[in-house]
Amino acid sequence: MALLPILRYPDPRLYKKAAPIERVDEAVRRLAADMAETMYAAPGIGLAATQVDVHIQLVVIDASEDRSHLLTLINPRILSAEGEQLGEEGCLSVPGIFDKVPRFAKVRVEALDTNGCRIELDAESMLAVCIQHEIDHLQGKVFVDYLSRLKQTRIRLKMAKQARVTA
Ligand code: NI
Repeated sequence: MALLPILRYPDPRLYKKAAPIERVDEAVRRLAADMAETMYAAPGIGLAATQVDVHIQLVVIDASEDRSHLLTLINPRILSAEGEQLGEEGCLSVPGIFDKVPRFAKVRVEALDTNGCRIELDAESMLAVCIQHEIDHLQGKVFVDYLSRLKQTRIRLKMAKQARVTA
């Protein structure tokens, strides 16, 4: 297993659209395992393949309190959604930035698991937010894109400053 470097906003590669995975093979499982390790180490509650510069439809999520419910979703798709919630979101690609984004309160999702079996799952509260956030990544969208222009500009300046400090 290996820790993977995470792309930082506003890296243009975060805006690439991920391709569906045709075959769930050993390479996909290895990437999923590395992504999970990277997510737990960060620490974070979700990571999309897009964020590690691999543009396939794969996300890992663990929104549980004790960090024991790893969810690996391949080709995830929202089947139905209802309600609204406004929770504070953050992103491993935008470290140190948190803001409110409107999301569906509940979602039903279909995906493939790491064995290539179709699964369906109902999610609400934080898990639902996390799934919507990660599916956005696969579509080339970062949560910052929902914020006002002014906030986006401030965040870009902050990221540029961070990059200079860590360079
Ligand atoms: Ni994110």
